[in-house]
Amino acid sequence: MRTVSGIQPTGNLHLGNYLGAIKKWVAMQDQMECLFFLADLHAITVYNDPAELSANTREMAAALIAAGVDPDKAVLFNQARVPGHAELAWLLFCTARIGWLNRMTQFKEKSGKNREGASIGLFAYPVLQAADVLIYGATHVPVGEDQKQHLELARDIAAKFNGDFDTELFTLPDPIIEGPATRVMSLRNGSAKMSKSDPSDASRINLIDDDDTIAQKIRKAKTDPEPLPGNVNGLNERAEAKNLVGIYAAVKDITPQQVLDEHAGAGFGQFKPALAELLVETLRPIRSRFVELKQDHEQIDAILCKGASKARELAQPTVDGAYKALGLLR
Ligand code: TRP
Repeated sequence: MRTVSGIQPTGNLHLGNYLGAIKKWVAMQDQMECLFFLADLHAITVYNDPAELSANTREMAAALIAAGVDPDKAVLFNQARVPGHAELAWLLFCTARIGWLNRMTQFKEKSGKNREGASIGLFAYPVLQAADVLIYGATHVPVGEDQKQHLELARDIAAKFNGDFDTELFTLPDPIIEGPATRVMSLRNGSAKMSKSDPSDASRINLIDDDDTIAQKIRKAKTDPEPLPGNVNGLNERAEAKNLVGIYAAVKDITPQQVLDEHAGAGFGQFKPALAELLVETLRPIRSRFVELKQDHEQIDAILCKGASKARELAQPTVDGAYKALGLLR
């Protein structure tokens, strides 16, 4: 079993990034062979300020390590340092069909009304993503619900390539879809995702927030006057309550029902301090490692370089195999 997953390097990391992806990766590295990367080649499908992009890539790497991704257990690198990703993507462009990509809902959302003005890279984004996982023969790919369609496309591309060129070069990867508790919502609006671009800082817990700020944001989080129900169904029409219970569950690695078993009947006057304490205790050690490591460019670069060299080694046979299957002389 081999897991491969990527995350786009964004700045201003928050609790949603941590619970949505980072924490899962940390748990996986003990269960199977893992390759985790910063998807910097995906980031440039829309305009990114170059200085910000490199800063964000280092920052995301620091956050992953601070949160417990261990470069001695998992192969950690940034995509741009492994040329095979871009190389294989080109070869796969010639297998992927325009009709398949036209169905990708994320492209429709991201390009919006300005489809003609979107980059070719944004359109081809899922093919690069296919290359990311096929290049390592990934058997399992942890992705959010929004990435499921891209993974199905990777399987289609792999199957067509194998069929067209009579080879078994590519392994068809299976998705590991994350549970519902990992969609962390805004603290001010239970129907909007927690996001770095929300103008209200009170809507999110940032990875660099200090203890008091975290506690204060939880205290001020939007809720309703009802006590917590005994059953998760009782949270259905209560988006804000559901979000706080979901966060508590995700941090503690228990189900929302287990949270309710413990806290049924409690009002938010009681539940919020419990949640705040849990978050403060969990995030404090991550924050202190993160803040320290973030400054240490040399150490981060050394870790990423080492990971990339290992990744290049693992990727090369697949890239060679693809050239060969296509009859390309090299
Ligand atoms: N597109 C993914 C996202 O935005 C990131 C990503 C790039 C990825 N390549 C990948 C995820 C390969 C899993 C496997 O979340």
